[in-house]
Amino acid sequence: MPAVSRRSRPPSRLSQPISRYFRLTRSRRPIALRRPAADGMPGHRRPVRSAPHVARSRRHRAVAPDPLHLPEPAAVHTASVSPSRTTQTGAGTAWPSLRNVASRMYFSAARRSRSVIGQDAAATAVARADSVNGVTGEPRIGDVFGEMLRDAYAVHTGTGRRPLAGGRLPRPVIEIIERDDGLVNGAPAAHYLEGPEHWQPYDHRAVDRARGETLDVGVGGGRIARELQARGVPVTGLDTSLGALRVSRHRGVRDLVLGTVDEHAADGRLYDTFLLLGNNLGLFEGRERAPEFLAALAAMARPGAQIVAQGTDPYGTTDPLHTGYHERNRRLGRLGGQLRLRLRYRELGTDWFDYLVCSAAELAELVHGTPWRLVDVDDRDAPYYLAILRLAE
Ligand SMILES: C[S@@+](CC[C@H](N)C(=O)[O-])C[C@H]1O[C@@H](n2cnc3c(N)ncnc32)[C@H](O)[C@@H]1O
Repeated sequence: MPAVSRRSRPPSRLSQPISRYFRLTRSRRPIALRRPAADGMPGHRRPVRSAPHVARSRRHRAVAPDPLHLPEPAAVHTASVSPSRTTQTGAGTAWPSLRNVASRMYFSAARRSRSVIGQDAAATAVARADSVNGVTGEPRIGDVFGEMLRDAYAVHTGTGRRPLAGGRLPRPVIEIIERDDGLVNGAPAAHYLEGPEHWQPYDHRAVDRARGETLDVGVGGGRIARELQARGVPVTGLDTSLGALRVSRHRGVRDLVLGTVDEHAADGRLYDTFLLLGNNLGLFEGRERAPEFLAALAAMARPGAQIVAQGTDPYGTTDPLHTGYHERNRRLGRLGGQLRLRLRYRELGTDWFDYLVCSAAELAELVHGTPWRLVDVDDRDAPYYLAILRLAE
């Protein structure tokens, strides 16, 4: 699932090497990386040494030797974290103990009042206690996808900090997806790391279609990019999640870019194929965003370029929870399957964002009037499909 705010992030590239083992982050601090391993297993850990030109610069400093270490979320997601929110984030742990005493008093008052003065007053008292204690019930905004992938990778390979149940047993890593009507779904994150032997048939057919310079939009843990590299297809992985890029890098994906398609379009690189896999047709978001998104891809497209996008037709369901959601969306002028979602992992969450699941007919409408033509829909695995778009002559 996608993640983060896309518009105001300054462009930054992991694809511009400083040296073989250093790459720039957005803050222009190099990330120390382990030698990538071709098989996805942890690479050999090299001592972190500054490359000569890095050592010369006081601004460029080698950082933590743990290749999967993530910086503080506020530093990762400056675009989506407002200053007030950032300040609030750290407050819970930093406040003096006197505050916690006051908070405990509020809590006991709240619990007592629940039986005496009813739910409203109790809820108000608990809310006051929460605000004193820095507990809002809301997640801290951060790199949900990156943190989740890092943990899934740790479970997968034994590399880095593994999430444990009871401090001992491996805990499954689950992607939690919240919809704005209260629906919550969970899916094992491990599938973002799976090799081709575990893929769905449409993933294989999508990869078979890639040709020429290929941009894997939302590369995630690099499962698709690794396979393309193995086939000798020149591939660049683009993602808004620094944590996801680090996992991809560690798994051997060589060319990675941090940012959105709009930001990357400003870099002047050109591609023959754009892949939107793992349901990433969802990045079209809806009627407003789709033309912008397609224009950004067109700005990076060589003549004859194609988009291979995997989508899901949402309208086969009879579940009233979903049909009702589609109806409500239409009443609001949105596409039926224009989902408003946020992702959660541990204490982190994303901001709310739109993610599109649409029929092929709706997709054809969205593409109409853009520089792209919908030339094929492969729906052999319905409700999943591959949409093939070609740049108009
Ligand atoms: C559902 S996962 C798919 C991962 C991968 N394509 C796969 O099939 O395993 C979505 C990925 O898109 C990334 N993403 C979300 N919003 C994005 C955006 N606006 N631009 C680029 N990548 C984005 C997420 O960080 C995540 O890695």
